[in-house]
Amino acid sequence: MRMYDYLVPSVNFMGAGCVSKVGERCKILGGKKALIVTDSFMKNMEGGAVELTVKSLKEAGLDVAYFDGVVPNPKDITVKMGLDVFKSENCDMIVTVGGGSAHDCGKGIGISATHEGDLYSYAGIETLTNPLPPIVAVNTTAGTASEVTRHCVITNTEKKVKFVIVSWRNLPLASFNDPMLMLKIPAGLTAATGMDALTHSIESYVSKDANPVTDAAAIQSIKLIANNLRQAVALGENLEARENMAYASLLAGMAFNNANLGYVHAMAHQLGGLYDMPHGVANAMLLPHVEKYNLISNPQKFADIAEFMGENIDGLSVMEAAEKAIDAMFRLSQDVGIPASLKEMGVKEEDFEKMAFMALKDGNAFSNPRKGNEQDIINIFKAAY
Ligand SMILES: [Fe+2]
Repeated sequence: MRMYDYLVPSVNFMGAGCVSKVGERCKILGGKKALIVTDSFMKNMEGGAVELTVKSLKEAGLDVAYFDGVVPNPKDITVKMGLDVFKSENCDMIVTVGGGSAHDCGKGIGISATHEGDLYSYAGIETLTNPLPPIVAVNTTAGTASEVTRHCVITNTEKKVKFVIVSWRNLPLASFNDPMLMLKIPAGLTAATGMDALTHSIESYVSKDANPVTDAAAIQSIKLIANNLRQAVALGENLEARENMAYASLLAGMAFNNANLGYVHAMAHQLGGLYDMPHGVANAMLLPHVEKYNLISNPQKFADIAEFMGENIDGLSVMEAAEKAIDAMFRLSQDVGIPASLKEMGVKEEDFEKMAFMALKDGNAFSNPRKGNEQDIINIFKAAY
């Protein structure tokens, strides 16, 4: 068997009420003043994640400053604004509160605070040379899993393209997944983030970089999402469904942090960069089409996915069973209300060529289990159109 490494934050807090432990952990990490990186909606929510995080930090004797300018698909200019607050307030650590956008923005601030020059120049794998300030991630959506990954995804506003800085230095020192903070997330966002998590687990399960450890995490994640996402979308206050989705998202993050992703993310990043399309929606719309293309790379793994997603594959050939996995992805997406086509989302056909070219350059493309060319990617965009 080939060699592989396996990377996760050293401490991961799970379960209802764990947000109360943030302060204690930040104190252990030596923090004196934390920059809270979040959005204004979250900051102003009474009894919400920011309020509870700050309460815990203050009880532990830490001071706080706020940057509440996080936007979806965080931009390089957002990161610069956050960096100014980090410096002017003399913060020595970063506590991100929110979903992937908050965590990625916080990582971007940490990189900018410790690395010279333009953030864009660090796009790529293991380009970071200096230690970042301690980052602690309080996660409020079951989706991106940025709270446990080494990925920092930022949009270059000038070029309208997303870029990824992948480094072990980006890894938060502690993650918090408290399902109590997820109960009020609206159905649409629950669906989009949940489909992002499913995309992580499926792309890492079929990735050419998968290994037995990432497979174990991915399998459990796929099962949990297939059995809980519909319920979490139907009734946000369903604590059991929220808890299971939080576990599923974390497991998917553990899987893709190490097995990497594939063409779904490589292509979704283009839709995010060019149209500012929500990441989870872009993934959900592309997932069945990309995996249909990938099917021949490993039919047995797709047959497994069909079974994990609850399909009856008794008496079917491996290829027949594998195709059931694609049906299951379409059905879940439809049940949770994801738009059916890129056309509906205002995507223009004339952009396919440019997006396909850029998708093949995206870092996620290299672990896709089937090697495609630009025309293949254009065809997948067309199929999803
Ligand atoms: Fe994702």
